[in-house]
Amino acid sequence: MALYSEKVMDHFRNPRNVGTMENADGIGEVGNAKCGDIMKIYLKIDNDIITDVKFETFGCGSAIASSSMATELIKGKPVSEALALTNRAVVEALDGLPPHKIHCSVLAEEAIKSALKDYYDKNGIEYDKKLFPDCEHCDHCCGT
Ligand code: FES
Repeated sequence: MALYSEKVMDHFRNPRNVGTMENADGIGEVGNAKCGDIMKIYLKIDNDIITDVKFETFGCGSAIASSSMATELIKGKPVSEALALTNRAVVEALDGLPPHKIHCSVLAEEAIKSALKDYYDKNGIEYDKKLFPDCEHCDHCCGT
């Protein structure tokens, strides 16, 4: 069996939503201290709906495929659904990742959460702090 699914290869070779965004409503950037990979997510939000999303990922193929799939999963969705997106859902949508690459999908979940937190902060929207791990000092989720 191939190490990477066809979907992973497709999103790695033809990533969706790559780029930056002017006047983004929320920007999130996270990195994995161990591999050094960095992911940045830009969100456009209108009336609580994510109308556009872009990403830049400096990292491995699994991180690029995860970012691409994650952006597809949240585009057009309400903020609450994007907030609930788990790395597991990203992995499932990609038809799996090898065990040692699961942490790459965690980066996508965290980058989206970080961008949503930025959106809440910029707009003075109240939120439960527990929804957001402290990404800058986080070493619990990317170490697998
Ligand atoms: Fe760093 Fe995949 S190896 S995110």
